[in-house]
Amino acid sequence: MKMETPGPTGLEAIETASRDELQAVQLQRMQWSLQHAYDNVPHYRAKFDRAGVHPRDLKELADLAKFPYTTKADLRETYPYGLFAVPMRDVVRVHASSGTTGRPTVVGYTKNDIAMWAGVMARSMRAAGVTPDDIILNSYGYGLFTGGLGAHNGGEALGATVIPMSGGQTEKQVQVIRDFRPTVLLCTPSYSLTIADELLRQGLQRGDTALRVGIFGAEPWTNEMRREIEARLGIDAVDVYGLSEVIGPGVACECVETKDGPHIWEDHFYPEIIDPDSGKVLPDGADGELVFTSLTKEALPMIRYRTRDLTRLLPGTARSMRRMGKITGRSDDMLIIRGVNVFPTQIEEVLLKNPNLCAQYQLQVSRDGHLDKLDVYVEVKPELSARIASAQREQIGREVAHHIKSLIGVTAELHVVETEKIERTLVGKAKRVIDRRPK
Ligand code: DLL
Repeated sequence: MKMETPGPTGLEAIETASRDELQAVQLQRMQWSLQHAYDNVPHYRAKFDRAGVHPRDLKELADLAKFPYTTKADLRETYPYGLFAVPMRDVVRVHASSGTTGRPTVVGYTKNDIAMWAGVMARSMRAAGVTPDDIILNSYGYGLFTGGLGAHNGGEALGATVIPMSGGQTEKQVQVIRDFRPTVLLCTPSYSLTIADELLRQGLQRGDTALRVGIFGAEPWTNEMRREIEARLGIDAVDVYGLSEVIGPGVACECVETKDGPHIWEDHFYPEIIDPDSGKVLPDGADGELVFTSLTKEALPMIRYRTRDLTRLLPGTARSMRRMGKITGRSDDMLIIRGVNVFPTQIEEVLLKNPNLCAQYQLQVSRDGHLDKLDVYVEVKPELSARIASAQREQIGREVAHHIKSLIGVTAELHVVETEKIERTLVGKAKRVIDRRPK
């Protein structure tokens, strides 16, 4: 596929196309993608046959609902390359995401897939306000994880300067921020705060860096956390979303001028929201599980892939393509504590409403006799740490526990701790939950 080049507005034509124009493109591409999967992947063919559907049955976009879902189990069953739709000689790259259990999920790309991915990632960066004049510090991990190379290729496709830093080595990150003067930071939102701590430790003020925008994703984060990052680093913090199975980072990205949820690049990734229990398709605006169908991918077509991510679809604002709400959690991330469903992001929201606390937190769940017990560890803001005595920390803890109880309905014991008492995740996604309950 040819990479679309930006027009005089700086945007690709499809980004400002009407919904009708977009849907015409989607339908044509969806027909191709279903046929491609059916013709070239025995696993898809068998599933479609069992469900009694054929790619020819897709006459309009809504017909997609007739086709079976794909889940992580399909990838596991066909591990490692069984869902690939092209011969290995046409696959130029593989990545893998580590599952919480067992085998990793392996994904593959043709040359065209890599170019499309770079294109949507460049589009994401452009939406975040990045231009060819920018210097990008890419602190997503390089390697099997899609974050590093995915963002790297996007930055280069945009014509910006990319510093391939990868994750970890926080002291060195700060040295590079100081000396190489990057204007854009890419990493997980939680790691951006670790970098902010290190800047503070090295005596740098927010005005001492050239950073202007951060593009953060790979893990859930709230608008409260956005405000904290923006205040501490003095930047605009923009949300980028993606997953390996669908392509990697750059499936959707917020526009810096609105920051109202990532716009889904719907000309390549067709979204649906479904009820995670019944599997029924829900209307735009309703909360449910996000499902994607790839429209242009060659090596690994994904038909109705159940992401497990919970959110809703919203109308376009800065672009005509639809937005997704912030991910509230994953259906498999949900904790059930004494019968109450709790997502870590709900707790984060309450913690960060307190002006003394920061987004370094961890939830520990255990069993006390027959009852579940939730312990929430959270740090005070680093700049306040020396000034807040332990009696005051206990008082803050009691107040926050009260808010958690009244807003979320779960009893939590709060442990408000000094700065840097909670272990940091330096590479990869923040570990927010430790569940010690017997299985
Ligand atoms: O995390 C790709 C990525 C890299 C996205 C860098 C953004 C930036 P996976 O390792 O396959 O791929 O994990 C995908 O991470 O299903 C979500 O649960 C979560 N996730 C990714 N972006 C966001 C986000 C990469 N912006 C899984 N907000 C997804 C919330 C996110 N969760």
